[in-house]
Formats: sequence, structure tokens, C-alpha cells
Amino acid sequence: MKKFAVIGNPIKHSLSPQIHSEFAQQCSIDLTYEKILADDEITFISTIQNLINQGYSGVNVTLPFKGCAAKISTTKTSEVDFTGSANTLSFDHNAIAAHTTDGIGLVNDLVEKIGSFSNSSLLLLGAGGAANAVISSILSENISHLYLWNRTIQKSIDMTNHWHKNYKNISVMENVDLKKIDIVINATAAGIDNTAPSPICLHDSHSAVICYDMMYGRQTPFLKSASDNNLTFFDGLGMLVKQAAASFEIWHEQKVESKSIEESLRSTLI
Ligand code: ATR
Repeated sequence: MKKFAVIGNPIKHSLSPQIHSEFAQQCSIDLTYEKILADDEITFISTIQNLINQGYSGVNVTLPFKGCAAKISTTKTSEVDFTGSANTLSFDHNAIAAHTTDGIGLVNDLVEKIGSFSNSSLLLLGAGGAANAVISSILSENISHLYLWNRTIQKSIDMTNHWHKNYKNISVMENVDLKKIDIVINATAAGIDNTAPSPICLHDSHSAVICYDMMYGRQTPFLKSASDNNLTFFDGLGMLVKQAAASFEIWHEQKVESKSIEESLRSTLI
């Protein structure tokens, strides 16, 4: 039986074991999938080596080790190379192949929820690892423009300079102007603490603006503000399930149906 795990810190609340078990059932694959807590990067690296020695086939990696996972891999996709982030590792003897599926998870979920968003203008909030990991997938969708905004604006400027080497339709939006925007994606950590206000004010948006928060399992201040302003909004549960589906496909070369799993998870989270 193939063995898999998800490693992160914290890890207790991870839904990945449940999601991968359901995918495995769909495909009649026997596997084990567990959660592993790593205290720090040194423990993360030694845990990976132990899992390879024990014959594990691969792991998902979650915060805060996605950057470290990209660094220790022996082969990586160009997306991992450019984002510096990996959430899916496959082991073959001592070789570690790295992929990142967060971006495709977000894009596939957006497409499922709202249809194609090519030619749209997007505003991505945040300039940490979560934001950086999804940029190339968003820009691959033939969008009109991607604007970046962050509380510490210099980080958005640095991030834009990095991505500008490969893409021209990306720039910083220092003063948020929602009149230009079709979709706002919140990739800040502002929702972790429910006492923080929404990272941007949504009062001025036109009514067709779509709001997407990469967090799930709670109504973040950003989504509360979207709701208060009668905007269409989505949380990141669909992205979670779809990034898992993309990992599953890499490991097992089988496509899975994810919508019903999102629905059943949502009913347990409410
Ligand atoms: P992650 O890997 O989850 O992206 P991170 O690298 O620590 O975590 O980045 C957190 C992001 O959330 C940053 O963009 C941060 O903004 P700053 O760069 O200004 O710190 C943003 N963030 C965190 N708390 C926030 C808040 N209350 N309002 C707005 N942005 C916030």
C-alpha cells in the first residue's frame, strides 16, 4: 500500500487526509495518508528523509515549509522554481520531485465558481508566500491585468519586479481603485485574527466585483465586508480541495471529482 502524509505547523486541523481518502475511494486505490507536525525547518528536512527511508511515495507540504520544500527538492517544475514554493513532493529512491498546485487549485476553483475569467482584471491582496504561490497560474489565464496590493507596499513593488521578468501585465496598485477590478483575491493573513479589519475597504466597489478569500472555515473580515456590501463572494475551501485533486493527479495519474467533497466538507465546517 502506498504511503503519503501532509507536513506542516500547525497541522491538527488539516483536512487533507480526509480529502485524499475520499479521492482514493473514488479511484479504488489503497493508500495511507497521515498528518505530521514538524517543529521547524531542521525537523521538516529530517522528517522528509525518514519518510523516504520508510518507503513513503510523497507528501503534501503546508505552512510554513513550502519554501523549504522547494529548496530541498532535486527536480522542480518551472513554477516551483519561479514561485520558490512547493506543496507536493514525490519520492523516487532519494530523489525528490517538487510541484506546486496552489495556483491551479485557485484557478480551477474560480473557473468552477464563476466560469472563465480571461480578459478580467484582478487585484491580489498580500505579498507573502500565499500570494506569491498563485501568481503564475493566475497570469497563465490570459487575464487583462493583475494588480498587487499589500499593507507594506514595498513588498508588492519587490514582488512585481520579480514577476515582471516573465509577465508584462502585472503592476502595483498602491491606492486601491476597485472601479478597474473584476475579481479581488485576499491572500493576506488578515483573516487569521478576526479582530483585524478587512485589508481593503469594499464600499467603493461596483456591484459586479467578485471577492475570493483563500482562507476557509471562517468568515474572514474581508468576506464579511463583501457580504455587507452585497458582493458575490467565495472562501478558499474549493481551492483547498482542488489543489489536493491536482496533487492526487500528479501522484496517481488519475483525475478525480472534487465538487461533492467540497460540499460534504462544507457541511461539516458550518
Ligand atoms: P503567508 O505565507 O500566509 O502569505 P506571510 O508570508 O507571513 O504569510 O504573509 C502574510 C501576508 O498577510 C503579508 O502580505 C502581510 O502584510 P505585510 O507584508 O504588510 O505584513 C499580510 N497581512 C497580515 N496581517 C494583515 C492585516 N491585518 N491586514 C492586512 N494585511 C495583513
